[in-house]
Amino acid sequence: MIRVPELIERKRDGGELSPDELAELMLGYAKGEIPDYQLAAFCMAVFFRGLSSAETYALTDALIRTGETVDLHGALGRKVVDKHSTGGVGDKTSIAVGPIVAACGVPFGKMSGRGLGHTGGTLDKLESIPGFRVELTTQEFIDQVRSVGLAIVGATANLVPADKKLYALRDVTATVDNYSLIAASIMSKKIAGGADAIVLDVKVGDGAFMKARADAERLADVMINLGRRASREVVAVISNMDDPLGHAVGNALEIREAIATLRGEGPEDFVQLVVEASTQLLALSDLGVPRDEARSRVDQAIADGSALAAYERWIGAQGGKPDEAALPTAPVIRKVIAPRAGYVQSLGAVQVGNAALHLGAGRRDKDDQIDHAVGVLCLKKHGDAIATGDALAEIHARDMASAAAAADEVLGAYEVGDEAPREHSVILDVITA
Ligand code: URA
Repeated sequence: MIRVPELIERKRDGGELSPDELAELMLGYAKGEIPDYQLAAFCMAVFFRGLSSAETYALTDALIRTGETVDLHGALGRKVVDKHSTGGVGDKTSIAVGPIVAACGVPFGKMSGRGLGHTGGTLDKLESIPGFRVELTTQEFIDQVRSVGLAIVGATANLVPADKKLYALRDVTATVDNYSLIAASIMSKKIAGGADAIVLDVKVGDGAFMKARADAERLADVMINLGRRASREVVAVISNMDDPLGHAVGNALEIREAIATLRGEGPEDFVQLVVEASTQLLALSDLGVPRDEARSRVDQAIADGSALAAYERWIGAQGGKPDEAALPTAPVIRKVIAPRAGYVQSLGAVQVGNAALHLGAGRRDKDDQIDHAVGVLCLKKHGDAIATGDALAEIHARDMASAAAAADEVLGAYEVGDEAPREHSVILDVITA
């Protein structure tokens, strides 16, 4: 039996823990035998001392072993792909990528999470679709990936249960932003979720965990290595999260933008990321196609309507109404007006994310209810020329008072200058094993 204070002390003093010790620690925590306060001290020791790569792998493995694992490959007899983002503002990428990949004949199975704070969660966005069920049993999840080629569901309570507790604990003990802990948390869920090949969208910038590119690349490396040790192929796309992705921030607004993208009418930065992630997934899949061919299949699926048809099949299979007209709309729409002419130098992702959160699009606390109709449409973005009186953004709100407060917040997120800023691409790098 491990002595937890001794493990905390060893890590605090820069020592190393064995795989068995980490396994006992996580199992004991998942079962409620080891209290939060000891894990909080342990996470803080890790925060300052770090984990070696052997320890990071052992922690990932230990987390996985606290719950069930899904064998999608065994069940389907085929390679299944998945995509994950480290979290951003306006990030509805998976909702467009899943149907594109499925339309190209590659099974896509994703277990997803909810949003907390200024970043939104894929499940919350999907729940703005009337009737859509995110809570499928593991068997329903597998059956749907087999029959429809695509499922995005909430992780079952028993998928990496130790991470659920640990993530909530890290959130309130200032121990989230550590490479090893983030990598183990994300990769344990991805590995347990059963996909063979995973594209990770590692965000960097104002609205991301990682503020500097070098940090995002390091996180990507750690996750790619964890994937390799678990026999999963992982590619990381490093993407810019200084400004919100696309125009829409807020649940139903983001679903509309994902649908527009599947129709070939998406905003440029979002389309670039969706196309890159989809291309990488096809290149990793069992289609056996090189990158150029993968890219042309992705373009074709959008152009010929098959990606949109895959979206409709998927939403219908999970009980939702795929028709855009069924999505909720906000009763108040208020424009944010440019007080001066110039060029948008930057649009702070965190501020826009917080404005959406204050409108009710997100949760401050994990039990908060979400208002799916509200949010922000950023009509002008980085580099756009504006004239005095132009609409910079649209606030979709439940009432006038919350619209006015959000309009002030969003106006504060715009930095306008006289010169056009240097162009920046949403995709900063692609890292393969
Ligand atoms: N997302 C996760 O799932 N875990 C982390 O630690 C950070 C982001």
